[in-house]
Amino acid sequence: MTQPQVHLVISQKGGVGKTTLAVNLAAVVSQTLGGDPAKPPVLVASIDPQGSAVWWAERVDGQQLPFDYDQVDDQPDEVAKLDKLEEYDHIFIDAPGSLARPAVLSRALEVATDAIVPVIPEPLSYGPTERTVLDLIQPKGLPYRVVRNLWDRRDGHLDIDALTQWLDQQGLAYTNTILRRFKLHTVAAAEGKVATQYSSNRTATEARNDFLMLALELGYGGQVS
Ligand SMILES: Nc1ncnc2c1ncn2[C@@H]1O[C@H](COP(=O)(O)OP(=O)(O)OP(=O)(O)O)[C@@H](O)[C@H]1O
Ligand SMILES: [Mg+2]
Repeated sequence: MTQPQVHLVISQKGGVGKTTLAVNLAAVVSQTLGGDPAKPPVLVASIDPQGSAVWWAERVDGQQLPFDYDQVDDQPDEVAKLDKLEEYDHIFIDAPGSLARPAVLSRALEVATDAIVPVIPEPLSYGPTERTVLDLIQPKGLPYRVVRNLWDRRDGHLDIDALTQWLDQQGLAYTNTILRRFKLHTVAAAEGKVATQYSSNRTATEARNDFLMLALELGYGGQVS
């Protein structure tokens, strides 16, 4: 057994998709890796006192949930030990949209192997994104990628191009994969579904594929030995 990769999904800006990314990346990575459904290879660990990821996971039919989950927002010592949980290949930490609970956040930054920073194509999300990278991630020397989320294709390219230009100007690292806005993602939590449970119609397949492409680009799919 080897140590898990610990991916910290973090941004000081609220509502940019941290929980959505943590849960759906966990789902597609777990499905890709296969393994015993009774002992899934992926864990979602929530350090957000709001517990949105847990609220979502609890609504999913337990038989169909492809990952384990845990709420550890008030347990800095548990967070510090996440990388010792050798039963998992990947752990996704869902961070809060604020700097509340600095002790837990600091442990999460120490234990993480990489960070994922969702950003949305709205100028008000730019500043907090930059501060997240400069003040929290880079001082730890943690590899990171910003992920552009919530692009609504009906809005055209103006806003997403402005965001991309800003990321280039700041020299921030970002993924090629852009997560598009799909109503399916918005209603999934309330409906108790994760991306691997979406139906197979065209829109649902496209919505799920965004997460599969992101996982592939980030190299979370495992290795052929
Ligand atoms: N790609 C997407 N398509 C459609 N809806 C999305 C997408 N990404 C996120 N959302 C929706 O946007 C809202 C905010 O997303 P989410 O809760 O994941 O953000 P968050 O960063 O975790 O927020 P918080 O800071 O409050 O924890 C939710 O209603 C979610 O369903
Ligand atoms: Mg959240």
